[in-house]
Amino acid sequence: ILFSNCTEIEPNRDLKTECNSRLQSPVNIVTRKVLPDQRLAPLHFLRYRHAFHGNLSNNGHTVQLDLPPGMKIKGGNLSTTYTALQLHFHWGKDGGPGSEHTIDGESYPMEMHIVHIKEQYVSLSQALSDPEGVAVLGIFFQESNSANKKFEPLIKALKRIPRPSNKTTVRGISLQMFLPPPTDMRDYFRYLGSLTTPDCAQSVLWTLFENTVPLSRQQLSAFSQLRFPGGRPMVNTFRAVQPLNARQVYRSGSRIASSLSPALVISSVLMLYSV
Ligand SMILES: *[C@@H]1O[C@H](CO)[C@@H](O)[C@H](O)[C@H]1NC(C)=O
Ligand SMILES: *[C@@H]1O[C@H](CO)[C@@H](O)[C@H](O)[C@H]1NC(C)=O
Ligand SMILES: *[C@@H]1O[C@H](CO)[C@@H](O)[C@H](O)[C@H]1NC(C)=O
Ligand SMILES: *[C@@H]1O[C@H](CO)[C@@H](O)[C@H](O)[C@H]1NC(C)=O
Ligand SMILES: [Zn+2]
Repeated sequence: ILFSNCTEIEPNRDLKTECNSRLQSPVNIVTRKVLPDQRLAPLHFLRYRHAFHGNLSNNGHTVQLDLPPGMKIKGGNLSTTYTALQLHFHWGKDGGPGSEHTIDGESYPMEMHIVHIKEQYVSLSQALSDPEGVAVLGIFFQESNSANKKFEPLIKALKRIPRPSNKTTVRGISLQMFLPPPTDMRDYFRYLGSLTTPDCAQSVLWTLFENTVPLSRQQLSAFSQLRFPGGRPMVNTFRAVQPLNARQVYRSGSRIASSLSPALVISSVLMLYSV
């Protein structure tokens, strides 16, 4: 969930930290090694269309939007319903590489995390004691030629929170506005990992959507105008990819043949004939 790597942030942290353990996030996803699984059906998004007023803050590490209660996810092989708490972003510098996860070694300019906890828990810290207590949805952004109008209220609000601890309210937004269209949300990757900030707790079921959200270069660059404590530009707010170790990354099973790349179709045809 955040920033450069843990050791850099707190070099003298005690030994209880999980930052050097074996189920860390983010990771690089190697698409030829992912395993499709039919159980990874489309998620259900509850109240994601509901309009709300959200508090947006520069918390010294990132931009965070606190969410009112009631927005939830279920399905998609999640063992229970999870409640959304907040969303935040990871970015590079002026639209340069900035995502935490990478796909076949490629970074995106920005990645959004919508952080959910199992509905029976009351806080993130409580959920972190459960190895699947937290479910984070990750959305990648891609540079486009035109501005994404749905993001304008949030981009405009960034100007009001240049410094750490500044807060503002963004009115009349919904989670759906920040996501690709619902039919583009069926394709995703799933793996078990960690928070990307200290103490890097290994309690996160990650869902990373394959389809991206477009933002203009100017919109992406607006995030680089924010400041860290001490006044340095808030840029490169991502942790480096961590070893996958023994983990398997899965892919949703709802993908249809027409969405396969031509190269993949050709190679499977060749395989048929060579058997
Ligand atoms: C943390 O970052 C430093 C410098 O960027 C790098 O040398 C080190 O290998 C990184 N450690 C981990 C665990 O990623
Ligand atoms: C936003 O902040 C106000 C004032 O601090 C608070 O009453 C409200 O509950 C907050 N809303 C959310 C969604 O966190
Ligand atoms: C689906 O859920 C079951 C039960 O929690 C779990 O054992 C399995 O690994 C999950 N499969 C995927 C692909 O996430
Ligand atoms: C923003 O935060 C800084 C300190 O980080 C403070 O000096 C300034 O007054 C705040 N501005 C607003 C509008 O709250
Ligand atoms: Zn994050």
